[in-house]
Amino acid sequence: MTAEAGPAGVLRVGIAGGGAIFRNHLEAYRAAHEAGRDTGQGVEVVALCDIDAGRAAQVAAAHGIGHAFGSVTEMLAWRGADGRGIDVISVCTPHPTHEAVVTEAAAAGVHVLCEKPIAIDLAAADRMVAACREASVRFGVLFQRRFWPAAQRIRAAIDDGTLGTPILGHCSVLLHREPEYYSATAWRGTWASDGGGVLMTQGIHYIDLLQWYLGEVVEVHGHTGTFVHGEHIEVEDSAVATLRFASGALATLHASTAVTPSLGVQIRITGSTGASAQLSEFPEGSDGRVDVWAAGQRVATSPDGPTWPSGLEPNVDLATINGALIPWHRAQVADFVDAVRTGGSPAVTGEEATKSLRILLAVYESSRTGVPVRF
Ligand SMILES: NC(=O)c1ccc[n+]([C@@H]2O[C@H](COP(=O)([O-])OP(=O)(O)OC[C@H]3O[C@@H](n4cnc5c(N)ncnc54)[C@H](O)[C@@H]3O)[C@@H](O)[C@H]2O)c1
Repeated sequence: MTAEAGPAGVLRVGIAGGGAIFRNHLEAYRAAHEAGRDTGQGVEVVALCDIDAGRAAQVAAAHGIGHAFGSVTEMLAWRGADGRGIDVISVCTPHPTHEAVVTEAAAAGVHVLCEKPIAIDLAAADRMVAACREASVRFGVLFQRRFWPAAQRIRAAIDDGTLGTPILGHCSVLLHREPEYYSATAWRGTWASDGGGVLMTQGIHYIDLLQWYLGEVVEVHGHTGTFVHGEHIEVEDSAVATLRFASGALATLHASTAVTPSLGVQIRITGSTGASAQLSEFPEGSDGRVDVWAAGQRVATSPDGPTWPSGLEPNVDLATINGALIPWHRAQVADFVDAVRTGGSPAVTGEEATKSLRILLAVYESSRTGVPVRF
């Protein structure tokens, strides 16, 4: 596919889904507008749609968005006075709806930035990637933690040989969720409407980082369990897995939303030089930082700054977590806007976002069958 530069001038954006993560996208596009305005490269969020048309109207009015619709189809059909519609759609709807929204937008020639997980099954993800490729529209998927400077520092240390080739990885995602997190939102917690539990919704961010560092996974052996939230969910609240990579590297994963108080997230990578780095997010929603760096004869703890002060609440509520992620949504939206304008590739493409989905679905399959899954 030959990439073509996107529209010049002000990009018009429509957001699908006016729920919890909507505000991160809105604020990120508004920051992109500030960055490009003086050079005529602004970004305007012109429309919001939600299957709850009342919510679309109310949220749009509250945030100064000019047009509200009750469906993606109506939003894609909208034309301004100059006859132009939206150039970009941000997909902030529940996971199983991503495919329909993305493929409809691609068919309309609209560039797509979709929330994670790309989909809840691989066939849907492949169809989404194919639809965007056929329509020659850019397709990006939100994994905003890749934009942490600390996450990028580890990637750079792999690329420049400081860590060498990664040989061992560990990903620990030990989070807290209140029962209401699952009971208050109808689509959370069932296989059909959520596609999975802690791995599909929270763990996928960190599985993405693990595979970004260690490369292609060739074998997964996993187990899942539902220990604390079973009254409200049929999916897993906890999972463990071992992963083997094409390079020969090995990794372990454990993840849970049954941990009180939350221990946050740690990702540890050891390279062929023997050097290791630990990336931590604690409390959940705080910016990732490298808090252990071990190379040669030296071990530096907290080179990124002080550790989390004691006495603060680790069980951070969801609105606070989402709000704290805005800078990193901003970074990824800026990257995506640039890809649309230049015809380049977004940092996290649909193909790239499919890799973490493939890994976590293999954990589910392995847990069901009792045998490792080999790709
Ligand atoms: N990147 C992150 O860190 C992050 C954080 C939170 C949520 N998310 C992702 O964002 C997505 C939405 O999550 P949320 O917490 O905002 O959910 P939510 O339930 O708060 O909001 C979803 C909204 O989408 C609307 N909707 C449902 N189907 C629709 C359709 N077909 N067309 C238009 N609107 C539709 C719903 O009415 C609702 O208002 C999920 O895929 C989730 O994984 C990502």
